[in-house]
Amino acid sequence: MAGMAKPHKRFVCQACGSVSSRWQGQCPDCAEWNTIVEEAPSVAASPFQAKHNLQGGGRAIEMIGLDSEVKLPDRIATGIAELDRALGGGFVEGSATLFAGDPGIGKSTLLLQAAAKLALAGKPVAYVSGEEAADQVRLRARRLGLGAAPVRLAAATSTRDILTTMSMGPPPALLVIDSIQTMHSDLIEGAPGTVSQVRASAQELIRFAKERGTAVVLVGHVTKDGSIAGPRVLEHMVDTVLSFEGERSHQYRILRAIKNRFGGTDEIGVFAMDEEGLSEVGNPSALFLTHREEGVTGATVFPALEGTRPVLVEIQALVVRLQSGATPRRSVVGWDSGRLAMVLAVLEARCGLSFSSAEVYLNVAGGYRVQDPAADLAVAAALVSALSERPVPADAVAFGEIALSGEVRPVAHAALRCKEAAKLGFERALAPASVGKEGGALRLSGFRTLGALVDHLLGRG
Ligand SMILES: Nc1ncnc2c1ncn2[C@@H]1O[C@H](COP(=O)(O)OP(=O)(O)OP(=O)(O)O)[C@@H](O)[C@H]1O
Ligand SMILES: [Mg+2]
Repeated sequence: MAGMAKPHKRFVCQACGSVSSRWQGQCPDCAEWNTIVEEAPSVAASPFQAKHNLQGGGRAIEMIGLDSEVKLPDRIATGIAELDRALGGGFVEGSATLFAGDPGIGKSTLLLQAAAKLALAGKPVAYVSGEEAADQVRLRARRLGLGAAPVRLAAATSTRDILTTMSMGPPPALLVIDSIQTMHSDLIEGAPGTVSQVRASAQELIRFAKERGTAVVLVGHVTKDGSIAGPRVLEHMVDTVLSFEGERSHQYRILRAIKNRFGGTDEIGVFAMDEEGLSEVGNPSALFLTHREEGVTGATVFPALEGTRPVLVEIQALVVRLQSGATPRRSVVGWDSGRLAMVLAVLEARCGLSFSSAEVYLNVAGGYRVQDPAADLAVAAALVSALSERPVPADAVAFGEIALSGEVRPVAHAALRCKEAAKLGFERALAPASVGKEGGALRLSGFRTLGALVDHLLGRG
């Protein structure tokens, strides 16, 4: 049988999707153990095809300039303002959105609410559940008070069945697939949930979206380490990736766009979870800034910025002196631990404060995750306050970026941060010296160096 190409075996890592030609215990790409699985061989190109010159024999495609007329894609606003905000104005017609989140965080709840709202507004909406029986979804709808919404509901897992049904009659404006990991394509072998199945099913659903102008939403599960389970590849295939985050023990949830081909990724939507489902939180600062007491050491308020929206959060630090020579712990919740190490190092090296024999705990209250680099100064103030046992004034907020040299650097949108702080009753800002007039109604204590902030907090002039 010379000349006949032998189908190659394919081994695919179920965590990262990397393909290798033999089985291995550990994936060479992502270093996960026991994630490599043999999958159906791809049809190898025949020697003829491989040798054939690709620069001929095809059809000519039309090339156009960047300046030709385009129509902005239509958006389907759900009427849930926080969801529309995270999406950049609503779902885009003919686009695919990956809706990712931890188990039980409320993905199905929010999408059912959005589907019902659109259906009540007269849009054709379909919701396909591969995880729950139709009755279970109906029960949830009833609990949320949405039992009367004309959503077309089905429990199915075959993409062929789903797309066949959707192609009969006019296509829906919104199609929710809950979840992509339960979908199965018969074009390819393998169990649902494997990388190749998820990829194939997503491909078919995305093609349907583009061809028929339906906004398709794929629900995806997230693994413990935060990656979208198995199919990281999905992130590349879809137009928009939304991540639904929050501590399950806390009431609020944050919806964040990680990727958006039709808009920015810096806006967040804030929701609170209760019996009636997810309700919108229009003023998140009030939520994160729960009862503050005067005279507490180690706490500062930081006006964080999420997109164009300021959110005030409390940063708490605890410093515990160790008697023995044991290696002290550094523990961080809600902030980057590398960043904490940096702020501690600058406090040691530039300001002469020693944390080396003390345990340091840092916590962002309410389970919020701070990503804004302007948090440095607020963290430093909390640490200095905890170490010196002198409270930071309760009427002050703090923000600014710290350089390794100990300089306090200006940050974006100082005016917006100060305005939000003033609105919530704060009177002072500890901030970079460059802020100046942007402080608005707040009394400003401006600092050029971290040393100056330390002196200020310790009352040294
Ligand atoms: N009867 C109820 N009353 C109040 N809250 C409820 C009730 N039932 C469920 N919930 C809340 O809804 C959450 C589950 O929401 P949902 O099913 O939308 O999550 P999910 O992200 O779709 O989960 P999964 O990953 O399992 O599909 C629960 O964690 C719980 O907080
Ligand atoms: Mg669900």
